[in-house]
Amino acid sequence: MQIQPCGPLRGEITVPGDKSISHRAVMLGALANGTTHITGFLMGEDCLSTIDCFRKMGVEINITDDEVIVEGVGLHGLEAPSEALYTGNSGTTTRLLCGILAGQPFTVTMSGDPSIQKRPMGRVMKPLREMGASIEGKNDNFCPLTLFPSELHGIEYRLPVASAQLKSAILLAGLYAEGQTTVIEPAPSRDHTERMFRALGVEIETNGSTITLDPPEDLHAVDIAVPGDISSAAFFLVAGAIIPGSELTIKNVGVNPTRTGVLDVLRDMGADITESNFRDEAEPMCDLTVKYSKLHGVEIGGAIIPRLIDELPVIAVAAAFAEGETVIRDAQELKVKESNRIAAMVAELTKAGVDVEETDDGMIVHGGAKPHGASFETYKDHRIAMSLAVLGLAAEGASRIDEPEVVAISYPDFFNTLERLGD
Ligand code: S3P
Repeated sequence: MQIQPCGPLRGEITVPGDKSISHRAVMLGALANGTTHITGFLMGEDCLSTIDCFRKMGVEINITDDEVIVEGVGLHGLEAPSEALYTGNSGTTTRLLCGILAGQPFTVTMSGDPSIQKRPMGRVMKPLREMGASIEGKNDNFCPLTLFPSELHGIEYRLPVASAQLKSAILLAGLYAEGQTTVIEPAPSRDHTERMFRALGVEIETNGSTITLDPPEDLHAVDIAVPGDISSAAFFLVAGAIIPGSELTIKNVGVNPTRTGVLDVLRDMGADITESNFRDEAEPMCDLTVKYSKLHGVEIGGAIIPRLIDELPVIAVAAAFAEGETVIRDAQELKVKESNRIAAMVAELTKAGVDVEETDDGMIVHGGAKPHGASFETYKDHRIAMSLAVLGLAAEGASRIDEPEVVAISYPDFFNTLERLGD
């Protein structure tokens, strides 16, 4: 696909529903008693993988024009699937399902695409085994994973990485455990699981970095309105901030504080982003307006990293257009995402003439010289593809993106929205 440099981005858009919340809405809806109506659900390939897995375990899920309707089977109502579960490209599906499957009275195998087969699962296997789960994985760390029936008991577990997928897997297994389950986080990661548990009547307490769950008798279905995904909005926030003359409003974006690191960093860089129409339901949301402004380099590291982990590729693009040096550190986790996102962004920014160095846990971007267009590789990674599209829009000259269809993982309409804005 060709990407041409574009003029100012102006107008109002919405972005698709939050990926993390959409996955959890289907999972908890399936385990609840009663019917869950989900509005704003992300119809991306990852969330469709979650739906497919639960359908294979006997859950009726209907997709209409404006809702996903999940007929909950209750905590103990899942059925043994007749074939292996396929989780596609989705780390969230794979890791969270591990927690749920660890507590089932049947044996089940699960695997995904070539990227999923390279992602570490040992981090989930370890605490689940401590809870009594019986799990096998390739080389004890990778998919395919097979989970056998076992009795679980609660544990207290200090997470070695700030990972919401890992935290959620343990808490989901805690639903099936005897006694309390406690996780301690090294830094706050997204808390959508905890919020949704509370909404469904589960007793879960957060005390600083410690989260404790009491296993419930059952979950009570509630309707779920999924806000727009700030991780998808981030592409337009950066595009609006770096393309001269832009003024763009993104409506109904989820602004859960565990996800808003990208707003903090862009503002630190000098971006003009305002919030309006704030409302706080189970998840807070608002409209975000970004206006072009001159950016400057910043240092990004420490506890903010989990609050912007998925936005770092597009933040690296912002850094390329910012005056001075941006240092990203403490971001080793980026190496085990859908691709090695540090290596990928360093290689592709370099192709665009950006002065960038790879480090052990991040990168250093020397920004300010206008990047030029190039023929970019996506590494079959949706967020790399969209970050490079933003780079191409703001660069000098045309660019090419090799596999633009990968955006369907989290944002099927991304290029259509871009085109509409360019009109
Ligand atoms: C997610 C957690 C994060 C994030 C991923 C979604 C979630 O992964 O990168 O896109 O929904 O819990 P980690 O838990 O591996 O940090």
